[in-house]
Order: sequence, then C-alpha cells, then structure tokens
Amino acid sequence: MKNLSIEEAYKLLEEAPRKNKELWIKHSVNVAIVSERLAEQLNLDSKKAYVFGLIHDIGRRQKEHVGLRHILEGYKFLVDLGYEEESRGCLTHTFYDRSLVIPNLTKENTNLTRSEIDFISKYINKNGFNLYDKILQIADNMGSASGINTIERRRTESMLRYGMTDVSEKNLRGIFKIQNEIENKLGYCIYRLFPEVSDNISKTLIKDVISLK
Ligand SMILES: [Fe+2]
Repeated sequence: MKNLSIEEAYKLLEEAPRKNKELWIKHSVNVAIVSERLAEQLNLDSKKAYVFGLIHDIGRRQKEHVGLRHILEGYKFLVDLGYEEESRGCLTHTFYDRSLVIPNLTKENTNLTRSEIDFISKYINKNGFNLYDKILQIADNMGSASGINTIERRRTESMLRYGMTDVSEKNLRGIFKIQNEIENKLGYCIYRLFPEVSDNISKTLIKDVISLK
C-alpha cells in the first residue's frame, strides 16, 4: 500500500483545475494544522493526520460548489491514485454520528444517486469512525480559510448564512459529542492547544452575515 507524502498532497492541491483555489487551500492547510496538533497530543502519527487534513476536501478540486458530492469525488480520486488509507477521510469527515449519514444524504441536499447514497452509507456502517476520522471532523470545524477558530463560531457562522435545519441541529450535537470524546482522552479542553483561537474569534465572517453596529 502506498502513502501520500505531505509534498505530494500539496502538489495535488496546487494542480487542481478549479478556479478560486486560494481559500480552499487555506482552509485545507488550517485543517491539516489542527489535525496534526491534535494527533500529536493523542500519540498518533501526526504527519499522517496532517496529510489527511490537507487532502480531505480534494473532492472539490474541480468545482467549488459540488455539495456533498465532494466526499465521493474525493474518495474516488484518491482510490484511483492508489491512496486507499487517505481516501477514507474524504468520505467520513462530514458525518459525526452514523445515524446522521442518511439524513445528511437526501435528494434535497445532494445530487447523489440512490446507489451512491447506499455506497456511502454501507461504507460508513462497515468502517465506523476511527480516531483519525474524529480528529478530521473536529479539524474541519475549526480550520477556516481565515484561521483556526472555535467549533461554535464556525458552525454558528454557517447556520447564520444557510439557516438552521433539523440536520444542522443534529450535526451540532454530534460534533460536540466528538469534542467531548477527544477531550476525555486528552484530559483537557482542545482549545488549550490552539492559543491562536483567541485572536481569530473576532476575525470570523459572522460580522459579514449579521450587521454589527
Ligand atoms: Fe473541509
């Protein structure tokens, strides 16, 4: 089995044919930084976690707005290149609980076919979420294009922008459960590892979504 190096992962991002790559790459790098730092403290392979972070949204390499299709596109792209281990996070990073897989994948919010939805749900039911997947889920919720932020701030921003639905509420509950699980392993709050969060809170896009006077 071959593994993707950090250099090769950066190359895949840089070579992506889509437009407006800058914010996408910044988000990917910040997710990689969060993943690496968490993995290190959890005695996992931090370089591996960094690569998983860099590559998790590779399914957006061709187009910016691909919705949930990006998880499948990213998975297939990496499997075709022979990066089996790295492909996993592409599929798992948007779900925080197995029971959220089907509600997240409806005809209304995806352009996935029934057999594609079945494939994703079978894959996740079979493989579950390992600690690298959970780190990636947290990191995706902390690393934005503008920097590293709190999970609350990132998700609030998205709910103000797109509205709060039944699924967004379930996702919120799901991600806090994962946070709690990781903090129980660490023995302290995750934000202790990310002092930059306090500087970044005021830089979030919330001010663009609501009018602050
Ligand atoms: Fe992401």
